[in-house]
Amino acid sequence: MGFKLAIDGPAASGKSTISAKLAKKLGWNHIDTGSMYRAVTLVALEKGINLEDESSYSFVKDLDIKYEKEKIFVNGKDVTKAIREPIVNENVSLVSSFPSVRKELVALQQKAAQHGDVIVDGRDIGTVVMPNADLKIFLIASVDERTKRRYLDFINAGKEVDLSKVKTDLEIRDQKDSTRKESPLIKASDAILLDTTDMSIEETIKSIIKLINNKRGE
Ligand code: DC
Repeated sequence: MGFKLAIDGPAASGKSTISAKLAKKLGWNHIDTGSMYRAVTLVALEKGINLEDESSYSFVKDLDIKYEKEKIFVNGKDVTKAIREPIVNENVSLVSSFPSVRKELVALQQKAAQHGDVIVDGRDIGTVVMPNADLKIFLIASVDERTKRRYLDFINAGKEVDLSKVKTDLEIRDQKDSTRKESPLIKASDAILLDTTDMSIEETIKSIIKLINNKRGE
């Protein structure tokens, strides 16, 4: 079976960075579920479908989506960089609000998480994708800290962005993700809340390893 670790939290709370580094350190698998919603959004944009119309997403079931070694592939094409474009950020909350899209991706995620020790990060992992996870963590950080982190991501990727726009975009996405009808971003009742506002990546990883070891010792 293996150890199943669910990490949920709002946009730019550090879920994917922490999960990737932790997985590397422990030699576990990692599945970044946000990248799958982003991949579907990218394909929808490329196809030029009416993004608002749920019935136009029937193509999703025929997509071959794979997340491997921190890279995301759609029908064999590496879209790791393309899914981080602002146009994807702006539309991914809408695309991920459709139940039929979620149904396909949740099934894919559950299958991918079946074997071995795995870290799955997203918004609904502790509540929907892995309700029986061995450990559930809900990562948060203040909106200003998350804005700073996302801003630096853009700058490091060589992109010119406006700090206040980064903040507004994050707030809009949080609002949409938390209030949507289908599987909203919500802390599972048995998840451990970890506020990383004043924590470094290394400190956060240490805390999570402690929690894993505690669980294993129970
Ligand atoms: O973690 P991220 O920012 O890459 O996620 C992108 C979007 O995908 C996020 O705004 C909401 C959606 N998402 C979701 O609905 N469920 C998940 N398990 C992961 C992400």
